[in-house]
Amino acid sequence: MLPILTWPPESPEFLIKERCDRCHGERGFSTNPGKPRLAGQSEAYLVVAMQEYQDGSRSSQTMHAMADVLSLLEIKAVAAYYARQIADEENATSHRD
Ligand code: HEC
Repeated sequence: MLPILTWPPESPEFLIKERCDRCHGERGFSTNPGKPRLAGQSEAYLVVAMQEYQDGSRSSQTMHAMADVLSLLEIKAVAAYYARQIADEENATSHRD
């Protein structure tokens, strides 16, 4: 199946709400042990991980489906967003219910 490419790319906030937050959390502070925490992870690491899920070199059926439809620009935007969610981690924790 061809990936659905949108232009301009969707904002990371929108993509994360649509596709990522139910597992990883809106800001990447996952509390579920099976769903890795993405907040504060290196941007480069997150981009590579997403590309590996896309091309299948890192196998996860769930994450392959999640990564498959994202363009490189979208992957980079989402990775940058999660990577910078560290400075106000305490703030995020205190708002978690
Ligand atoms: C249905 C739940 C689910 C959704 C939705 C989901 N993920 Fe994941 N994600 C997982 C699981 C489970 C793993 C661990 C897979 C593995 O073993 O590699 C994972 C792993 C990852 C990793 C690797 C983290 C690491 O530490 O190596 C990244 C990056 C990632 N997800 C990003 C995303 C992004 C970005 C989205 C939204 C586009 C998303 N995920 C949506 C469940 C999900």
